[in-house]
Amino acid sequence: MSGERGLQAEGIRKVYPTRAEDLVVLRSVSIAADAGESVAIMGPSGSGKSTLLNILGTLEFPTEGQVRLDGEELGRLNEWQLAHVRNRRIGFIFQDHHLLPQCSAIENVLVPTLALGRRAAAAFSAERRLPEDGTVMQRARALLERVGLGDRLDHRPSELSGGVRQRVAIARALIPRPRLLLADEPTGNLDRKSADGIATLLLELQRDEGAILIAVTHSLELARRFSRRLALEDGTLIEQP
Ligand SMILES: Nc1ncnc2c1ncn2[C@@H]1O[C@H](COP(=O)(O)OP(=O)(O)O)[C@@H](O)[C@H]1O
Ligand SMILES: [Mg+2]
Repeated sequence: MSGERGLQAEGIRKVYPTRAEDLVVLRSVSIAADAGESVAIMGPSGSGKSTLLNILGTLEFPTEGQVRLDGEELGRLNEWQLAHVRNRRIGFIFQDHHLLPQCSAIENVLVPTLALGRRAAAAFSAERRLPEDGTVMQRARALLERVGLGDRLDHRPSELSGGVRQRVAIARALIPRPRLLLADEPTGNLDRKSADGIATLLLELQRDEGAILIAVTHSLELARRFSRRLALEDGTLIEQP
């Protein structure tokens, strides 16, 4: 561990070998973000936005380059350590909510905590600075209240609209108090009004929790509400006004 906090990705190159010739998706991408910062990533379809987000979230690995989160170089971690980082320090929100259809809203929010045994769950609560006598369950409830779902804890995804499902997905991503929130077109399937509500919620919660938010969006209007905007073009990231 170095003393450096936040997220740093340096010299990220990603090549997919294909039968014809290698597909170079990311040539040389560097990005740094501090706690409390929100970064919008734009760029045409197929430009590598999801690939970049997946690399930052350790779901994929770069062909070259490194990613550090709070001073820890993610490429050096073993599978067990990576699972731990993904589970505790990174929250994902996708375009599709990916909620479990058979589980209620609150059960879905609790899913990331299921991998913890009872002792780990207690340590998790303490480590996450939950209020005294606070439990993971109380945080799940509080988060669902915060996203406006206090009265629908027991609803299944099929009983909720698209925008509301995405609110559940946000609560689920936040349950472990992640340092890094990655959102891949989180409002891509929503009408304009729901999209605006979801964006407001994401930005407010990210600020309240002091997390880094990196979100892919096609909406310039939405991107303008982030602290910074970057565009992915020809495999490199370009700062936008
Ligand atoms: N696993 C993979 N194997 C081969 N090619 C891939 C793979 N994943 C993505 N690609 C290709 O990489 C390019 C970038 O994809 P992606 O990151 O999904 O773009 P975006 O999210 O900007 O639309 C696309 O041409 C896509 O077809
Ligand atoms: Mg994509």
